[in-house]
Amino acid sequence: MKTMIGRLLAMSALCAASHALAATQAATAQLHADQPGPTIPRYIYGQFSEHLGSGIYDGIWVGEKSSIPNVRGIRSDVVRALRELKVPLIRWPGGCFADDYNWRDGIGPRDKRPGRKNNWWTGKHESNQFGTHEFMDFAEQVGADAYIGVNLGSAPPRDMRDWMEYMTSDGDNALANERRRNGRDQPFKVPVVGIGNESWGCGGNMRPEYYADEYRRFQTFFHNNGQAAPAAIRVASGADREDYNWTDVVMKQAGAKLDALSLHYYTLPPADWKEGGKATRFSKEEWVAILAGALRIDDIIRRHAAIMDKYDPKKRVGLYVDEWGTWYRSDSGKFDWDLRQQNTLRDGVVAAAHFNIFHRHTDRVKQTSIAQTMNVLQAMILTDGPKMVLTPTYYAFKMYVPFQDATALPLDVSSPSYRLGATAIPSINASAAKGKDGKIYIGIANMNPDDNVQFSVNLGTLAATKVSGQVLTAQQMDQFNEFGKSPAVAAQPYRGATLANGALTLDLPAKSVVVVGLE
Ligand code: AHR
Repeated sequence: MKTMIGRLLAMSALCAASHALAATQAATAQLHADQPGPTIPRYIYGQFSEHLGSGIYDGIWVGEKSSIPNVRGIRSDVVRALRELKVPLIRWPGGCFADDYNWRDGIGPRDKRPGRKNNWWTGKHESNQFGTHEFMDFAEQVGADAYIGVNLGSAPPRDMRDWMEYMTSDGDNALANERRRNGRDQPFKVPVVGIGNESWGCGGNMRPEYYADEYRRFQTFFHNNGQAAPAAIRVASGADREDYNWTDVVMKQAGAKLDALSLHYYTLPPADWKEGGKATRFSKEEWVAILAGALRIDDIIRRHAAIMDKYDPKKRVGLYVDEWGTWYRSDSGKFDWDLRQQNTLRDGVVAAAHFNIFHRHTDRVKQTSIAQTMNVLQAMILTDGPKMVLTPTYYAFKMYVPFQDATALPLDVSSPSYRLGATAIPSINASAAKGKDGKIYIGIANMNPDDNVQFSVNLGTLAATKVSGQVLTAQQMDQFNEFGKSPAVAAQPYRGATLANGALTLDLPAKSVVVVGLE
């Protein structure tokens, strides 16, 4: 008991000291609750799980005989945690892996499936124990829709046609009957299909003109197989970062035949990406560099969207940011292709900044998936044998759940900057929406690593009488959660809000994420 009280006293002394050191900046915003914008589709909060490192094996799949509690081979702890995030959609099986994948390897009795070499990811043994039925079972256990990436790079369109028919046909035909023999009577639901991945790189090193033709050929053999309306969304492989020419050419030559075009944007350190930035023990310069890098996605989306507007002024085609997130050096401290990295408070703040930016572009951005769900890059969850830890990114996702299918509301933010050397970022990045429960939500990232910010929001026509919320912060900017310990960075009840005279005032701790709901 004495030790506990001693620890609490030491902690409050530490808080008081850090509070005394921190200055307070002031930021303001105007909410326009009377000017509802587009819906924030729940697919904005999608996930991506690839056969890479321990993203699938150990992370999701442990097999039915494992001593780790599982349902039909799928980890129960992971499913339980992901259900809390209300994961709307999971993209699988890749990534680069998808364009080297033969779907037939992953169906039928598991003891008869061929082992293969995972060519993209370290040449590791791919047992194919986790295939179509196991992925669909995982998605169904989590409560998510399936986003299947089909092979355009190394397979003919017939493979895609057959896989789609196997999964989705309810007719009396050889492929649907094979699925039934493999244990699934009813067709699987496949609402989203990616046709090729990074076709400018690992998906075939194609020029956009060539890809556009290939896409046109593939989609000719793409059949919906009587899936209940709406028809599956066909996603064409889109640009890397600022390759605006790719978007232009694919939209011009194939835009009428696709439903969505992807975009990949990773937040990388400014130096050579293979050198990698540090996931932990980074300096304040590295904090700012990563946040500045994350914010660039705002302008990049705007520019790709402007090109799409030229060919699709009615915004029929969605922009799918189906890979995003931080990419650092691996756990080992070196670059390695298992791409497992630690996840700190900084990653939670990066995630919140992305959400706020996506919310502002939902007239065009209809889906995103963070890379990746388990043990790879900016993960929600890290596992080590039977142990599991929820990352700060996980908590950011959880805090933003009320934004799924909410109605975006304009929020004009005026923020002071945080400057370090040649790099400046706004301290505050925020967005607002009206949730399906009728409450108004405001999500904020205070990206200033040093200072608290007093954020005053003029609520305009909104007469709110009650406010509550959650905060994600920590003493150290590189704080992370460790196996077997109670989490050092987790969402906590937020008590820094006051409502008076039509204004909301939020006392935002330095380096934090806050989400408040107003009634
Ligand atoms: O997410 C890891 C890899 O990054 C994906 O397989 C690929 O699409 C991207 O280059």
